Amino acid sequence: MAKMWAGRTTGNTSAMADDFNSSIHIDSRMYREDIKGSMAHSAMLAEVGILTSDEADGIIAALEGILADIESGKLEIDMTAEDIHMFVESELTQRIGDLGKKLHTARSRNDQVAVDMRLYMRGKCEEIETLLVDIIDAIVSVAAEHKYDIMPGYTHLQRAQPIVFAHHLLAYAEMFKRDLSRVEDAKARMNYSPLGACALAGTTYPISREMTSKALGFTGYSGNSIDAVSDRDFCAELLSVFSIIMMHLSRFSEEIILWSSWEFSYVELDDAYTTGSSIMPQKKNSDMAELVRGKCGRVYGDLMGTLTMLKGLPLAYNKDMQEDKESLFDATETVERCLEIFVPMIRTMKVKSDNMYRAAQKGFINATDLADYLTKRGLPFRSAYKVTGTIVSECIGRGIVLEDMTLDEYRSHSELFAEDLYEEISLKTCVSKRISDGATGYKSVETQIENFYNFLKEKKGN
Ligand code: ARG
Repeated sequence: MAKMWAGRTTGNTSAMADDFNSSIHIDSRMYREDIKGSMAHSAMLAEVGILTSDEADGIIAALEGILADIESGKLEIDMTAEDIHMFVESELTQRIGDLGKKLHTARSRNDQVAVDMRLYMRGKCEEIETLLVDIIDAIVSVAAEHKYDIMPGYTHLQRAQPIVFAHHLLAYAEMFKRDLSRVEDAKARMNYSPLGACALAGTTYPISREMTSKALGFTGYSGNSIDAVSDRDFCAELLSVFSIIMMHLSRFSEEIILWSSWEFSYVELDDAYTTGSSIMPQKKNSDMAELVRGKCGRVYGDLMGTLTMLKGLPLAYNKDMQEDKESLFDATETVERCLEIFVPMIRTMKVKSDNMYRAAQKGFINATDLADYLTKRGLPFRSAYKVTGTIVSECIGRGIVLEDMTLDEYRSHSELFAEDLYEEISLKTCVSKRISDGATGYKSVETQIENFYNFLKEKKGN
């Protein structure tokens, strides 16, 4: 294809160089943003008198036609074009001749691509925000069904203290809530228009950057034209946010995989989100969760790739920056697909509360409460800790649990023990006594759920 930039050189690059140089395979998805940006630019050019209003109308109408034709499938994007900006401009010139060549006045592809990406990612952020609200909603509704279901809480993957399943799930809701605010923050910081920075130094034309930034829904426009075209902080920032979302999804996946194992048997994923083995008939594998965990590494890679691509670049634009889209779009798509599959996967998973309860009964997870029992009756905590440790060790030696020891046996360890100790160390008491804000106690968990209901109502109302 003839090069629009032919002049200084013949533009006769080798076919291999054309292919290597081209980014249309990755940036064609920004056709809508590219066209909208060009429309705003043309309208502004007319407003300030650089184009006549007839000229701008002609360009805008043709751009509208191109957009409609791409959207209806009538116009296919030429995959041999250098990039989406060149494709749209050459299509415009084909349709309206010399007038089309006026569009690029007071603009460069350098500010154009920066605008397109910000607009495109603004839309993607909104989609991801919706998906984050969906996953929080799913978690909260599963939690609401298991407010009173006791399970072991873990530290070091050792049974530690009794908690309710809802409490454990709501920890993930908190993570995704923070992720949502991170996306909102990054989106707000990104929302400044680079348009009008042109190649790097601004322009001699009397343009209005204010006008284009308003027309395109930006909060304002960038303060320095060199920064405007060389800044890809928003890519690195979004990739960091996406990496954190993936890390959360990956930790959740890891637990779901563990819980689905025979050893735990706390949950069973719906058949719709598991696979069988080609050779072992008994298998039901949590492939979706495993893939999400695996794809986390890929998104980290996208972040590292972008940071590394940027680290040695002199100002302002360098072609290295074309690579930004490969990683950013890959990560965006990965996060979206992972969130999409996760939501129905957790909504449909069967929770085996009986198994959770059984596991909670076996691990001496009420030992802290036994120590607290003594402390509340006057024994210093360190001594209470020691007495309890000795009792636990005796139980382990005899193959019994705390509930199985007789009162006489308890009293041989400390005179402070009385009949009410059994009630005090029952798992139900252990849970309901945890009354501090944010704790696992029933009341506290109910409050956490209530707070999330309010949060979701507010987010969905937006
Ligand atoms: N396809 C290019 C990119 O994605 C557009 C910017 C080209 N600018 C340039 N000066 N060659 O970065």
